Amino acid sequence: MFEDINHSGDGGIYAELITNRAFQGSNINTGSISGYSGSLILPSENLALAGGPVLTGWGPIGDVRLSLDILHPLSDALPTVLQVDIPVNATGEVGFFNYGWWGMDVSPQEYKASFYVLANYPRYKGNSTTFTVSLRSNLTEEIWASTELPTVKVDTLDYIQLNTTISNEAKTPNSNNTFAVTMDAYEVAGQTFYFDLISLFPETFKNRPNGLRKDLAEAFYDIKPKFLRFPGGNNLEGVSPQTRWKWWKTIGPLKDRPGRAIANWNYANTDGLGLLEYLEWTEDMEIEPILAVYSGFSLDIWGEDGASYPESRMHEVLQEALDELEYCTGPTTTKYGALRASHGHPTPFKINFVEIGNEDWFSSTYPHRFYFLYNGLKAAYPDITLISTAYNENADYNISIPAGGMWDTHHYEEPHYFLENFNFYDNWQEATNNTDVGVLLGEYSVKQLDSPDGAVNWSAPGLPLPQLVSAIAEGVYALGGERNPNTVRMSSYAPSLQNLNWYNWVPDMIAFTANLAQTLLSASYWQQWLFARFRGAQTLPVVNTKGDFRPLFWASSINGEETEAYLKVINAGDTAVPLSVVLDVEIRGVNATVIGNPNENAENTEEEMEAVVPKVANVTQTRGRSWSWNVPAWSIVVVQFDV
Ligand code: AHR
Repeated sequence: MFEDINHSGDGGIYAELITNRAFQGSNINTGSISGYSGSLILPSENLALAGGPVLTGWGPIGDVRLSLDILHPLSDALPTVLQVDIPVNATGEVGFFNYGWWGMDVSPQEYKASFYVLANYPRYKGNSTTFTVSLRSNLTEEIWASTELPTVKVDTLDYIQLNTTISNEAKTPNSNNTFAVTMDAYEVAGQTFYFDLISLFPETFKNRPNGLRKDLAEAFYDIKPKFLRFPGGNNLEGVSPQTRWKWWKTIGPLKDRPGRAIANWNYANTDGLGLLEYLEWTEDMEIEPILAVYSGFSLDIWGEDGASYPESRMHEVLQEALDELEYCTGPTTTKYGALRASHGHPTPFKINFVEIGNEDWFSSTYPHRFYFLYNGLKAAYPDITLISTAYNENADYNISIPAGGMWDTHHYEEPHYFLENFNFYDNWQEATNNTDVGVLLGEYSVKQLDSPDGAVNWSAPGLPLPQLVSAIAEGVYALGGERNPNTVRMSSYAPSLQNLNWYNWVPDMIAFTANLAQTLLSASYWQQWLFARFRGAQTLPVVNTKGDFRPLFWASSINGEETEAYLKVINAGDTAVPLSVVLDVEIRGVNATVIGNPNENAENTEEEMEAVVPKVANVTQTRGRSWSWNVPAWSIVVVQFDV
């Protein structure tokens, strides 16, 4: 599951290295860029930090004055630009630099740099300009790499866009680096330039232009995901109908994307990672898109019933969703299919799942909104599985999900909740009258450790990092899903990413900074990784002849070829438990992979990293039909039987 929260998109998996590239707003604190010093920012505290035209992130080089200008907009979408005044008596190197997202990784590779520029005075000394772009240390005078662009005459009427590459060979000692655009004052003294959309991309995942930060995307890819749910989460709904995520504003040339000055998680979103980029993300990872469409409800007041569209205006919301689906899936003969083609992707995407809204149990108007959209979308796209975000028993009002549909449920809980609800999905369809309704466990994670109250305290920040006990509890709940594959068809941890310099939700599956060496794959990450690696095609029945669930929890499955049976076992207790397994076929070989540590609170800070990274265990290779082992305390184990 992905949404832009915790600077997970801008400043995160969206590979753009420049912060505030189009002066739409930035939260970076230039005082703390040498290392991360982030702390949790609660929504109410940081509205003041949210977007708006600011110069944050930029600094002058040499004798120049930097300011913001709105008289020379680059486009309707990007009205604020950087004005650079160079005094007539300036000498030497002049220009400006950018701090990146709390620093910038500079490593041996090719970077793509680009910017738009306009001049104010048609005639000035030299009448032509040679721009240089470079990667520099922010701590020393070192310039790691630079490229001089061909000399140009900068127009005074229309912006020109300049593009180049920077080949860097330096291995820099840290990420306290900057990107600079400079000129020689000899050529430009007395001139004023306007710059906008100043961009720098490193190599991206699968080399996609305007693509994903490689290491973070690879960490996702390595989990072997099956789907991506986007663009939220709350980020879809927005704080108000006006500031919500509007798909049509996230597509096309970057200069035509206004971004969201006040996005849901209280920082400006560039929407550089827009609808098409999300779809390309699924294409590059060969996974299903789960497209969440706006359902006519925005949050307005946290935890309260927010602004909703009345029934009489739901046709507007439906049309918006239909147009969006046409953009994603329509042939090039359709209006929006042609638009997608003009954006570089003529081949339609296949969308099999559409989610109607997000967490609409916050809103009493979902019944009319859900059915209106359900009926309208079903009529146009009968084969798409539609996902409801609420159903009759989980809201105070009545929604029956039609057969063939799905329910997206979210759980941010204490560990005990997941253990106690291991059997929640056993007979769920029958018990709740949701015949032929599947479940998307769309967001789940341990938010805080068990407390005397037994319930999450939403005014406390939550665990800073997932611990081993988090992964154990989440794993137990996932086993409950694996035992009921006809009900629980998909599941995803959330939130997935956290920029350690600025975040408003903890814990998260992967934490990172601009420094690639600081990327932290949590215990919860490794639990997801381990379970996805041993994905069965069918559930196998397990009969327990002695003992019951707790502290051991288990589920079993077999691969499609019926050559490998998987037994997933979790020990949610502090002592090892002897386990004997008898199969009704011959075992040809056994191996086990384990995440475990005597300390249930192990995180994966650098010292504890070893504790939560899956390891192949030493198990006795067996012939025959039975196998025995001591399941270590606090462990998550997958045993593979070759059969
Ligand atoms: O994952 C963080 C938020 O939690 C999501 O945006 C929302 O769906 C849920 O409340």
